[in-house]
Amino acid sequence: MIQVNEVTKEFHLSNKKVSYIFRVDKKTKQLEQLYFGKHIKHRESFFYLVERENRPANNLYEGDHTSSLEHIKQEYPSFGTTDFRYPAYQIKWEAGDRVTHLEYSSYNITKGKPILEGLPATYVENETEAETLTVILKDAYSDLEVQLNYTIFTDFPVITRSTRFSNHGSEVIELENAMSTSIDLPDANFELVHLNGAWARETHVERKELHTGLQSISSARGASSHAHNPFMALVRPTSTETNGEVYGFSLVYSGNFTAQIEVDTYHVTRAMIGINPFQFSWKLTNGKSFQTPEAVMVYSDEGLNGMSQAFHELYRTRLARGTWRDEERPVLINNWEATYFDFNEEKILEIAENAAELGVELFVLDDGWFNKRNDDTSSLGDWVEDKTKLPNGVKGLSEKIHQLGLKFGLWFEPEMVNKDTKLYEHHPDWIIQVPGKNVSHGRNQFVLDFSRPEVVDNLYHQMDAIIDGSQIDYIKWDMNRYISEAFSIALPSDRQGEVYHRYILGVYDLYERLIAKYPNILFESCAGGGARNDPGMLFYAPQAWASDDTDAVERLKIQYGTSMVYPLSSIGSHVSAVPNHQVGRMTSMDMRSHVAYFGTFGYELDITALSQMDKEAIQKHIQFFKKHRKLVQQGDFYRLKSPFEGNHTAWIVVSKDQTEALVGFYQILGTPNPAYERLQLTGLDTEKMYKVHPMEQARYGDDLMAAGLIFADDVTTESETKWKFNRHGDFTSNIFYLTSKNDSEVEQWG
Ligand code: DGJ
Repeated sequence: MIQVNEVTKEFHLSNKKVSYIFRVDKKTKQLEQLYFGKHIKHRESFFYLVERENRPANNLYEGDHTSSLEHIKQEYPSFGTTDFRYPAYQIKWEAGDRVTHLEYSSYNITKGKPILEGLPATYVENETEAETLTVILKDAYSDLEVQLNYTIFTDFPVITRSTRFSNHGSEVIELENAMSTSIDLPDANFELVHLNGAWARETHVERKELHTGLQSISSARGASSHAHNPFMALVRPTSTETNGEVYGFSLVYSGNFTAQIEVDTYHVTRAMIGINPFQFSWKLTNGKSFQTPEAVMVYSDEGLNGMSQAFHELYRTRLARGTWRDEERPVLINNWEATYFDFNEEKILEIAENAAELGVELFVLDDGWFNKRNDDTSSLGDWVEDKTKLPNGVKGLSEKIHQLGLKFGLWFEPEMVNKDTKLYEHHPDWIIQVPGKNVSHGRNQFVLDFSRPEVVDNLYHQMDAIIDGSQIDYIKWDMNRYISEAFSIALPSDRQGEVYHRYILGVYDLYERLIAKYPNILFESCAGGGARNDPGMLFYAPQAWASDDTDAVERLKIQYGTSMVYPLSSIGSHVSAVPNHQVGRMTSMDMRSHVAYFGTFGYELDITALSQMDKEAIQKHIQFFKKHRKLVQQGDFYRLKSPFEGNHTAWIVVSKDQTEALVGFYQILGTPNPAYERLQLTGLDTEKMYKVHPMEQARYGDDLMAAGLIFADDVTTESETKWKFNRHGDFTSNIFYLTSKNDSEVEQWG
């Protein structure tokens, strides 16, 4: 998978799908990017991919006119000499300058993929799954060593990269910027796709043309954020969901990030992703190293769906971990929208009992179970149960829930504190704050300084005291505000640039300790919905609450956007009450379920207050979902129609062996006398005959993908019902189940 020409120092990383090629430019000793894209046959040398033009430029060496780094496509570019674009790293030396000259020194190749200490990262289960190349660069002026790590997997169209800076000298180095990856692509014929949002409307897909100069998305909020997700894709203007070239970049990290494109005047596109350099710096004393998070780069020539499927498969099977990774996820009910803070044990048990009768498998007790937490002004930080609400404690409640045949889950928000708590009374210095200056609150709460090990330790012990002895199967880990006035009282003034990153390392550490002690607990990450729905979190929590917006129509956009990167097995999606609490919209129980099916599926409503008809519908929906959840959570997902482009949304999930599929089709508004419309499916086996429920059609895969399903508004006769499907009305939805499992039966239907 990794081939090296020892003479020309060319490196070719390839598998059946992708090739990634770079070399050492002998004159400058810089790594020069030659190619990243569709797999190409190996050659002894790819020297013909080197591009040089005689251009006006600053050159490194006197008398030489071809040593301008600006005109050599870089693997890990610097600033300060002859490249004037934004660099992948920056170091401030004691003298005050920022000039480095990292030169190629050596390389090594290892089987498999080493772990990144303290950081989430993709992994292998055995050494044959990947190979890792480490290229070692040394600074010509100091004892700084930089390792560039590249992993190529056997089965994914993916290159992962990360960078490690090590200071072997006596001078103290200040790292001001340390991208995880950077690549110079040879043209600029791209559009940029990214996920934009806000609280309750996360992951909206944006696509826009590249222009010369800089474009970036980023977070400086202390979390990956609702506003932008640590992901971007470079897409050919003609690329669609199923065709054309796409380069996807995703960062396995949960804190401040930046994803940046710079198109230079010669139309080279420099793409990079990593920790946001704004507000970041890291001191490296002698013998110390800094490891960047991992970046995942996907190449697809099968459009955005091809890119998404690569992310889905890698993240579902080789980023998510633990007992629950490959398990079908339990159908849950969460009491948040049912009761908010206003509940007692009796009410909770009533909900749980009703839910159990209808087939729910997990009850989740959300916010409000501890201390005197009756609204959002109080109690975060003191993790002891409120005995007026739960006279038998969490332990007692968890036992009763288990007696009903349900698993039990509990909500925590470990990173936060309210001022009315013992924790704050004893440790007012444990919050993130600048002494003597105002500390802003968010939702009345303050951020605990997770950059301090003693704070993380305290929270570990508090959580452990609740979990230990109770029957807890699931934890929802919430985080409801961003970090402001970022400052740690425990760090010296010249290390304040480290606070954000140290904070996230503290969060990862707490997760790791809890997982080590409780490997069977299913974690769901949450941050006021999707403010920290990122690959970093997936390493610890295989599920993420995608949004606080539970409206079925809004969820189409949110789940469609989330699916750009994240597998359905990670997308927390619930059915809630109507009128919807966020937007006031009325949608049918069917439509709400049909949207929530494409995720982990659950409920978030007062099931005791529902009509018999609704309860019967819920029972039916749960039965349906249980029958198909393996397909949903482990199949290949394709987006068919975008909610950002029209009145209809559609998607399909197809089993790996292509014997079955589930299609969701959704209409926002009914149209009088509408135009004809067909829904062409994707991902089926052209040769297979599928039975399409509920219409009882038998059709070949090629036919369903080319001719498509036919919709009609005015289906009346029985024969029409067999071939067409009704899309009449506002907020309507249809689910089609396709199976080719029993071929003889399918033939009869035909
Ligand atoms: C925000 C979450 O996203 C909600 O689901 C809920 O858990 C509340 N926090 C509780 O405060």
